[in-house]
Amino acid sequence: MSEEARAGAPSGLSRRDFLKLMGAAGTGLAFAPFVPWGQFLPNPSSASLERVPAELPDGSQANMRTFPVNHSEVITYPRTGDRVLDEEAFRKWQLIRLPEELGGAAESPESFRVFSMVCLHLWCLWKYWPDAGRRRGECPCHGSMYDARTGTSFAGPASLQAPPSDTLPKLDLEASDDGLLWIKPPVWGVNDNGVVGYGRFV
Ligand code: FES
Repeated sequence: MSEEARAGAPSGLSRRDFLKLMGAAGTGLAFAPFVPWGQFLPNPSSASLERVPAELPDGSQANMRTFPVNHSEVITYPRTGDRVLDEEAFRKWQLIRLPEELGGAAESPESFRVFSMVCLHLWCLWKYWPDAGRRRGECPCHGSMYDARTGTSFAGPASLQAPPSDTLPKLDLEASDDGLLWIKPPVWGVNDNGVVGYGRFV
């Protein structure tokens, strides 16, 4: 697992102990959707109650008029202003403008998706592959693949997990008249925006 992925472990446990714990819990997570795991997982705290700019790595705000079709950028949410905290894996999201064949050409927030980068299998960080024949999220650790339109895994170990642990948490966007994209306040729950590292019902 990468350094970024490991950064998501909560304080109080060594990261190695935490990962062992989560590895042991993985099977239980997949078969016990009735347990309120979301209360115990390190969901991002300090989510804003107001919309915030969808800020690109260069510090500018994403604009639906200029963001390339079939392209992705890593964004951070919620931001704290603390450089170390803001590098936590659980604050990393893929902002994707869908390819044209999936409706990405329209100047609309609907052309975009924002999914948690934390793979639902064992928390590596997946990335978006825009090349023809792929156009999906892929995790480098064990090959889980995610549908760019829905965030649901369709191949690899994450696809074998029971809902909600087969679908990535999401953030919702809106646009202002000038095309700038904003992140709407999320509701962290499996029936809403999802629980980072655990999943979302669809
Ligand atoms: Fe992503 Fe295993 S951690 S496929």
